[in-house]
Amino acid sequence: MERRNRRIYLSVFALLFVFSFVAAVSVAFAEPANTGLERGKVLYERYCAFCHGKTGEGNGPAGHVLFPKPRDFTMGLFKVRTTSSGQPPTDSDIMNIIKYGMPGSSMPSFIELKEGDVMAVVKYVKKLADITKEPKGTIQTGTPPAVTPQLLALGKEVYEKKAQCWKCHGMEGRGDGPSAATLKDSWGQVAPPNPFKRNIYKGGGSPQDIYLRFTTGMDGSPMPAYEESLTDEERWAVIFYNYTLAGMDGVKVPFPSKRSENKPSVLLK
Ligand code: HEC
Ligand code: HEC
Repeated sequence: MERRNRRIYLSVFALLFVFSFVAAVSVAFAEPANTGLERGKVLYERYCAFCHGKTGEGNGPAGHVLFPKPRDFTMGLFKVRTTSSGQPPTDSDIMNIIKYGMPGSSMPSFIELKEGDVMAVVKYVKKLADITKEPKGTIQTGTPPAVTPQLLALGKEVYEKKAQCWKCHGMEGRGDGPSAATLKDSWGQVAPPNPFKRNIYKGGGSPQDIYLRFTTGMDGSPMPAYEESLTDEERWAVIFYNYTLAGMDGVKVPFPSKRSENKPSVLLK
C-alpha cells in the first residue's frame, strides 16, 4: 500500500516537472518575437499614459490641464519628421522625440531611458498609431550655404512675398499675423504659429532642424510643407532671415547642429 502511494506521488512530481519544463521552454521561445512590444507597453503605461492615455487617444489624466494637448496618436499624424508630408515618421524620428522632447510644449525628454527601451516604446507608439508601412525615403538636409546679405535679402523676399509666412507668423515674427487667430489643428484645437522672437522650436533650433520643418511641414498642424514650392536656396535663405527676426544677426546660431548635443540634464529615476 505505502509503496503504491509513493509511486503515485513520484509520477505526479515527474509529470509536474515535465510540465514546468515544457512551459519554461515555450515561454523562452515565444518571448523574442514579443519582447519589444510587451516591454514597450509596460514602459508606455508607466511613462506616457499619464498624458497620452492608455489607448493613445491623448486623454490621460493630465491631458485636460495641458496646452497643446498630449498627442492623440490614433490619427497617425506626427509633426517632427524627416519624411515628406503625408508620410509616416521613421523609427528614429519618433526615437528623437522621446529622447529630446518637444521644447515649448509639455512633451518631456526621456534621455535616461536605455536605447533598447526607447526602441520598444517606439514600437508600441507605432502600434497605437497603426503605422504598418515604412515611409518612402527621407529628406537629406545637406550643408547650409554661407550667410551673405544677398541670402538674407532673398529670405526676406520669400518670407514677405513668395511664401507669405507673415500671414501666420507676423511681419516681425511675433506669431501675430492676420490668420494667426483663426488657425486650428487636425484635432480641432487652436494652433498658434511659432513666435520666432521666443527662439523655441519643437523639433530643434539648428538650421538643419528648421530646414526639415519647412520642407516636410508639421503634419496635423497648419504649418505647411514647402518641399514642392520653395527651392533649396530659398529654404535656407528664409531660415537665416528667421534668425534675424528672432533678434540674431543671422549668422551666430544659438543651437548646436545636432539635437543630441543639446541633451537636457534631467535624470529620470
Ligand atoms: C507631461 C505630459 C506628457 C508625457 C508624460 C509624455 N508626453 Fe508625449 N507629448 C505630450 C504633448 C503635450 C505632445 C504634443 C506636443 C505638440 O504637438 O506640440 C506630445 C507629443 C508626442 C509625440 C508626437 C511627436 C510629433 O512629431 O508630433 C510623440 C511621438 C510622443 N509625445 C511620445 C511620447 C512617449 C513615447 C512618451 C512616454 C515615454 C510621452 N510622449 C510622454 C505630452 C507628454
Ligand atoms: C497657414 C499658417 C502658416 C504659414 C503660412 C506658415 N506657418 Fe510656420 N507654423 C505655423 C504654425 C501653426 C506653427 C506651429 C506648429 C506647432 O507648433 O504645432 C508653425 C511653426 C513654424 C516653425 C517652428 C518649428 C518648430 O520646430 O517648432 C517655424 C520655424 C516656422 N513655422 C516657419 C515658417 C516659415 C518660414 C514660413 C514660410 C515659409 C511658415 N512658417 C509659414 C503656421 C504657418
